[in-house]
Amino acid sequence: MCGIVGYIGEQRASPILLEGLRRLEYRGYDSAGIATLDGNFIIKKGVGRIGKLNDSLKFTDMEGNIGIGHTRWATHGSVTEENSHPHWSCKAEVVLVHNGIVENYTKLREFLISRNHKFSSQTDSEIIAHLLEEAISSHADIKSAILSVVGSLGGSYAFLAMIKEQPDLLIAVRKDAPLVLGIANNSHFVSSDVLSFIDKTNQAIFLDNKEIAFISRNKVQIFDFTGKSIQKKTTTLAWEISDVSKKEYLHFTLKEIHEQPISVRQALAQNEKEVKEIGEILRKTKNVFITGCGTSYHASLLLKYLLAKNLRVRADVFLSSEIDQQKDLIDSDSVVLAVSQSGETADVLNAVAIAKQRGARILSIVNVMGSSLARESYKTLYTHCGPEVGVAATKSFSAQLSVMFLIVVAAAKGSPKDLLALQYHIRDVLATEETVRTISEKYIGANDFYFVGRGDNYPIALEGALKLKELSYVHAEGMAAGELKHGTLALIEQGTPVLLLNPPDETYLPTLNSALELKARGAKIIGISTKRDPCYDDFVPLPAISSTYLFPIVEVVPLQMLAYFTALGRKLDPDYPRNLAKSVTVV
Ligand code: G6P
Repeated sequence: MCGIVGYIGEQRASPILLEGLRRLEYRGYDSAGIATLDGNFIIKKGVGRIGKLNDSLKFTDMEGNIGIGHTRWATHGSVTEENSHPHWSCKAEVVLVHNGIVENYTKLREFLISRNHKFSSQTDSEIIAHLLEEAISSHADIKSAILSVVGSLGGSYAFLAMIKEQPDLLIAVRKDAPLVLGIANNSHFVSSDVLSFIDKTNQAIFLDNKEIAFISRNKVQIFDFTGKSIQKKTTTLAWEISDVSKKEYLHFTLKEIHEQPISVRQALAQNEKEVKEIGEILRKTKNVFITGCGTSYHASLLLKYLLAKNLRVRADVFLSSEIDQQKDLIDSDSVVLAVSQSGETADVLNAVAIAKQRGARILSIVNVMGSSLARESYKTLYTHCGPEVGVAATKSFSAQLSVMFLIVVAAAKGSPKDLLALQYHIRDVLATEETVRTISEKYIGANDFYFVGRGDNYPIALEGALKLKELSYVHAEGMAAGELKHGTLALIEQGTPVLLLNPPDETYLPTLNSALELKARGAKIIGISTKRDPCYDDFVPLPAISSTYLFPIVEVVPLQMLAYFTALGRKLDPDYPRNLAKSVTVV
């Protein structure tokens, strides 16, 4: 979703902002723009991808050592140049970029119209620029002006503003949307994600909710929304996270699928004591809830199964956006384990905030260090899988599952030795790439796809279907094999492709029976298993693994590859699927 960058320092701002925006492309966007201040404001913006926009607009010609930039993912107002950011105030005294939603924008707009403000876009974001201009004219100083603005804004937001009369000042405000400052010598960076400046500095200050930063070349002052000054700690970031190149791969998605042997190993390298502690908390807590969205929700569902089967722990899993239906069950005897790659998904943060209000203890499994979810949690286990750029989650999913298996194995007093072999099993299954590509070509014309699995394989079926939908826009459904006969069989026609997850675990035979039922109705069965059954029309071999409980992590890899190759076959860009964002920061 919307990404924000800012720079103030001794160098020309525009190339730095452009590179920063490029590094935020993964979040998903439909338009982009940059503003610099060089005596007057210069703004260039438009619809489309940053690279193309730069070809026509020549962002890097813009002068000025201070500037802000933005990638927009439309919420209020359609995808047009006018609606893209940065936005001006009427008298061009303020220029601003914003991420989030101003909930009371209609009321504020009416007020501003009554004060003769004229708007050039349909966005809620432009309101903030006008409000700030209005406040500056009626307050003694910038600080009181900005405090009055945040006092009147409802909703969630992060914004960056420049003021024409203050060429040594960037104002950064955070409320429920991420914002982090990069600290370097005589220069400062601001961004929605450290990725946009990690190649320039590894010193960061994470703003918390309801904080305002006044950033100049040589100093940073931070206040809360009451105006009280706050001393913040500077975090040293790990340089490894700066690796956001595609390397030899055509797409980030493919690179991230191939990184899984390494990322799984990294995810498993946890502090033993912390893993045990989380296992103990889950075991001893009366009410355990697990929550997440999208792919992280599928991982959550698998954890529920693992806890029940291996630890006899009962856990409720809910989609974070469904918190209202769960909240009355959450109390001070509850633990909510939130799972999120970004740690910034607004639905997850909202669920966590509600759970906290009700007295629950928050645990989390997160990839992005210093993210909002990690900061809100009592304990966090990081998945350490490195930056995930492809919009569709791949390596973060296998890393989440690895951490979950580790927790369960440790709590069940088992040996994590088998888990360490996962990297080799994934390497083996990656070697089936050409087989998966051929299968994807065979079914390239299919409009519907079904993914079927039982038990622990069911969440993987859901994940396989989600991947195909996200990357190739093909309708897909993940089904529990036993449920087929209760409705979905009616949809099976001659030639309907059904991907069958059939590892040699306790679900093997009943799943094979489901395959026969499907086949009798004309389905084409793509079997994913260690051995080929005659009923499979196509077959992707899984490596032989004696610890069969590990199959879910291994078998998801061909599903990711299938989605990737289907997207390529349909001439789609797998890294940036239409209408989707990597980090969904609005509820
Ligand atoms: C978005 C992404 C999905 C992701 C979901 C949850 O919808 O497009 O790929 O699974 O958010 O993201 P999180 O960062 O919380 O895991």
